[in-house]
Amino acid sequence: MARRRIIAGNWKMNMTPSQAVELCATLKDLVNNDAEDVVYCVPAIDIVPVAEAIKGTNVKLGAENFYIEDKGAFTGEISAPMLKEAGVEYIIIGHSERRDIFGENDILINAKVKKAFAAGLKPILCCGESLALRKAGTYKEWIARQIKWDLTDVTADQVKELVIAYEPIWAIGTGETATADQAQEVCKMIREVIADMYDAATAEAVRIQYGGSMNAGNAAELLSKEDIDGGLIGGAALKPDFGQIVNA
Ligand code: PGA
Repeated sequence: MARRRIIAGNWKMNMTPSQAVELCATLKDLVNNDAEDVVYCVPAIDIVPVAEAIKGTNVKLGAENFYIEDKGAFTGEISAPMLKEAGVEYIIIGHSERRDIFGENDILINAKVKKAFAAGLKPILCCGESLALRKAGTYKEWIARQIKWDLTDVTADQVKELVIAYEPIWAIGTGETATADQAQEVCKMIREVIADMYDAATAEAVRIQYGGSMNAGNAAELLSKEDIDGGLIGGAALKPDFGQIVNA
């Protein structure tokens, strides 16, 4: 079964609303590729203007964060139903910046994955190891443990709709990309973990991205690997280069 490629931009805390609309216009013709899913995961304040700016194009809308309750006294937070009504389809969960800077742990991340599915959003679940774990050689165990925690009580049917992003922390925003073989090794291992937790059909269906300094120059090689079904792109998603990655 061929998995549909998914190239997602993670804009992080970049782009004011007017800059966001301008970027959509710049990228419009460059990302026009119906053979794959193209997603912009944007800051909360950009969701409404970007939803308008991508109308009539192939681009799908994603968000970068939300809280697990539907509404109430949670100052500063945004809920899954709010995102859903605004046209959001994909939601990044468990990014290393949220884990490290904002203290999100696997219990919260698991709750977010379940809430996202319940609200009709598709999670892009991030995992990945630090440089210390890479050097210690224990990175595979670490990532397998993250996946098991984060998918506790998530059903096989849900996992078939899930996107997992393997993002080695040492490669994020550093210009240092994992080699295509290093990325493939871990993406394959993640698929094996899913096969163990669920079954072969679920492992075959789940889409696995690589993320970490993916750019116009290295995307084609990374995306040629059997178990790499797409990319989660930070810095290069804010430039015309993103079009080259979509078409790599
Ligand atoms: P980067 O970020 O492409 O700038 O390394 C990727 C990510 O953090 O999702």
